[in-house]
Amino acid sequence: MTIFQKLGGWLGGRKGARSRAPVMVKQLEERDRRRMLKHFMALDDSDRLLRFGTVLPDEQLTAYVNKIDLDRDTVYGVYNPVFKLVAVGHLAFAPKEQLSPGGAVTEKERVAEFGVSVSKSARGLGIGSKLFERAAIHCRNADVDTLYMHCLSSNKTMMHIAKKAGMEIQREYGEADAHLRLLPANPGTMLQEALEEQFATIDYTLKANTRAAVKWFEK
Ligand SMILES: CC(C)(COP(=O)(O)OP(=O)(O)OC[C@H]1O[C@@H](n2cnc3c(N)ncnc32)[C@H](O)[C@@H]1OP(=O)(O)O)[C@@H](O)C(=O)NCCC(=O)NCCS
Repeated sequence: MTIFQKLGGWLGGRKGARSRAPVMVKQLEERDRRRMLKHFMALDDSDRLLRFGTVLPDEQLTAYVNKIDLDRDTVYGVYNPVFKLVAVGHLAFAPKEQLSPGGAVTEKERVAEFGVSVSKSARGLGIGSKLFERAAIHCRNADVDTLYMHCLSSNKTMMHIAKKAGMEIQREYGEADAHLRLLPANPGTMLQEALEEQFATIDYTLKANTRAAVKWFEK
């Protein structure tokens, strides 16, 4: 397999997945914070419940977005063709003592927890799965071998994604704690993450400039 075929597979998603447009997952920065908030504000009550375990009101959503520590955590986003942020994945790192539901053990100092939301208009395109895969690769490259996810057990879509990723799932009182043990990094995972980010950066720049040009012409 050539590097280009391999890259196509990385960007497009998993082996065996039906053919879908490549999903460009970009690491978000300070300049994206306003759009992150816009994405979360557009989630309706049922999505807020699924994403946060409670129907977070607007003020608490704003506080959550403002408090995201972009130096410590990694936040991923997917922009649609008109430069609207349609998905956000928050990969939070914490000392292992802090996040140990189910008693999963690791020798590493830190573990990670992942939460994700995709706008209704962009669902079913493989974006949620791709964000999860990207977060898992980043964990491996950051020497973190345990990735947690917490969701409602009624969340069929997320449970499907978790099972597909090979996560071990414990259900209790309508909630589910899932965790995935990750393999160590290798040159392939390093290259994959670097290339995906570079392609996503080019995609981001093109969409941002196109959006700016359209706005300018509309004046
Ligand atoms: C969960 C969520 C992130 C999924 O995003 P998405 O981009 O639509 O997900 P994908 O397209 O990658 O994958 C959806 C998968 O679930 C499957 N699926 C969809 N509805 C399903 C259902 N009711 N039962 C089982 N599987 C289902 C799809 O067939 C697809 O599987 P496949 O890739 O094997 O074909 C999105 O629905 C969302 O934002 N929900 C609200 C917030 C939330 O639940 N967050 C998760 C808590 S952390």
